Amino acid sequence: MRYGIWAAATALVTLVVALLFGGGVDSELLPGIPSPGPFTEWALPLAGFLTNALGVLAVGATVTAAFLLPGDGVSVAAHGWLLLRRTTWLALAWAASSVAVLVLTVSDVLGTPVTGLSSPAIRSFAFSISQGQALVWQAALALLLAALTRADVSRGLAAVTAIVAAVALLPPAFTGHAASAGNHQIAVTSLALHVLAAALWVGGLAGLLVVRRTRRFADTAARYSRLAFACFVATAVSGAANAGVRLTSVSDLWASRYGVLVLVKVLALLAAGLLGALHRSRTLPALAAGQTRAFLRLAAGELAVLGAAVGLAVALSRSPTPVPSVPEDPDPLVDLLGFAMPAPPSGLRMLGDPLPDLFFLTLVVTGVGAYVVGVLRLRKAGHAWPLSRTVSWIGGMLLLAAVTSLGIAKYAYVLFSVHMVQHMVLSMLVPILLVGGAPVTLALRSLKRPSDPQARGVREWLLLALHSRFLRLLSNPIVALAVYVVSLYGLYFGGLLGTLMRYHLGHLAMLTHFVLAGYLLFWVLIGADPGRRRVHPALLTIVHFLAMAAHAFFGFVLLQSTTVIAPDWYSAVHPPWAVSLLDDQHLGAGLAWAFGELPAAVILLLLVRQWMRSDQREQARLDRAADRADASGEEDDLARYNAFLAAAARERD
Ligand code: HEM
Repeated sequence: MRYGIWAAATALVTLVVALLFGGGVDSELLPGIPSPGPFTEWALPLAGFLTNALGVLAVGATVTAAFLLPGDGVSVAAHGWLLLRRTTWLALAWAASSVAVLVLTVSDVLGTPVTGLSSPAIRSFAFSISQGQALVWQAALALLLAALTRADVSRGLAAVTAIVAAVALLPPAFTGHAASAGNHQIAVTSLALHVLAAALWVGGLAGLLVVRRTRRFADTAARYSRLAFACFVATAVSGAANAGVRLTSVSDLWASRYGVLVLVKVLALLAAGLLGALHRSRTLPALAAGQTRAFLRLAAGELAVLGAAVGLAVALSRSPTPVPSVPEDPDPLVDLLGFAMPAPPSGLRMLGDPLPDLFFLTLVVTGVGAYVVGVLRLRKAGHAWPLSRTVSWIGGMLLLAAVTSLGIAKYAYVLFSVHMVQHMVLSMLVPILLVGGAPVTLALRSLKRPSDPQARGVREWLLLALHSRFLRLLSNPIVALAVYVVSLYGLYFGGLLGTLMRYHLGHLAMLTHFVLAGYLLFWVLIGADPGRRRVHPALLTIVHFLAMAAHAFFGFVLLQSTTVIAPDWYSAVHPPWAVSLLDDQHLGAGLAWAFGELPAAVILLLLVRQWMRSDQREQARLDRAADRADASGEEDDLARYNAFLAAAARERD
């Protein structure tokens, strides 16, 4: 308790000082909008801080209960149960403070004191303005979290509560300062990653200090330390990316008050990083030897530094940025796209002029990094790993980065034809290469087992997922085919595309779905990884032909179409240099149709090879059985079958 009080006090003092310094409580904050009065000017950032702090603690408590603490068979251990119980109250308070932030934001935006607000004004902000909707979502998810923490104590459900808590942090990151920034793709994604990494780091440390009297605490602390290091890197990179879109130049770092606050945050990050390094070199080894004092002292210091960083962050989110949130000459197209209309496409422009997508770039860097570490570990243990698999995986990852972050990503926003190429690469080429990398097999072979059998590391959670009923259902070839085909037709002929293109989160979800639906189908068809059903290659070949037919028919129908798909979106972003919407759509249809041919042929070859190999295996099995039968003089299957046929023939005669 005392560690928490220190951290909260440091955070609050930092918040107040940073608000005064950064201009976060300036009555002229929103140009042309009257001041809502001192109550709102102070209550809004304070409620904002409380919402952040409760969210961070809820994430920390659930992650500690589900992933850091050893369990008790299928249930969380006693301290995990206690943490989940406390999270109920944290979550209820979190929901209430999100609602308070919502009401105070209405007061701030309208420039009306809280007492002067009308419920219709609050209602319309809550349900029709993205910032209001985000806070309603956060409150609803926090209430769901409160209910889940009361449900039961299985480790599986504890993991679900941790995911719900993490997701509940995100909605506000997709609105507010980030959404109004230029290049909002980077602003929004970097802030979401930033808030998530910061919450796991700060919340995990708070959760760890709460369970300091549990058995094998040194192991739990070591597990947290690995998580903290990853969060340190992610917080630094995402924070820098986020600051980058709000500063006009490096000199803003010392020439603007916003920039100075960012610099102080960098200092806080470096200080916390240094304390983390001291933990690894000094206090964790001492803890493993049974000495807890040094670790607890340093951890308390680290929590205070991180608390101060959260206070700084809330002040930052209230301070005017050097890049004005409302540009002098607003361009509605830049508002919609997040970038200026690109020049007519050329090969060079499709590769150059990037639109970096931090979400996919983070996935690619993590995916390639983890894979290489896995291969090196196997090699160090004297086990070989096929180079073809490594090349396939890294090739798939690089293609994923290229098609979501190079110039083509910009053209895919404004041209249906280029969007279709992006779709085909993401749903066919990238998954085929990733499946060829057999990542699950590598993970199961290279990940270490935790020394404590009651602890679950990444390997144990992976095995649980592989044997889950959900994956068993998904790996049914018919289900995998249905997911692939229904999402293809549903997206384009179900009127979804326009909405998903308009919102950054929707666009991210759509591109991610392309990769996942493709990965599922090609894993079921040609995957080497464990977990998929044993299905005869003949059935797999039929499923493949059905997927090809559905794909070709999709291209054919699109080619015949006389109505524009997602007309609102494409007419709003139609480039002055492009052909008509329908011509571009037909070009897209042709590309989709043609694009499917080559990958489909490759898959067919792989399926035929798989079929031949399974026949060879079957033949070898029968031969071995016959040899065994010969050796033991027993009848083997073949002999028994021939005897049956003979008996049947005799009966007929
Ligand atoms: C010490 C570790 C850090 C923690 C715990 C942390 C935490 C946070 C949190 C919780 C927010 C969201 C605030 C809100 O919207 O209410 C945030 C926002 C932000 N952080 Fe950090 N952060 C850290 C380090 C950094 C660093 C090193 C940088 C820059 C290099 C940075 C730059 C930013 C920026 C630009 C924002 C957005 C503020 C806005 O909305 O204008 N942070 N941070």
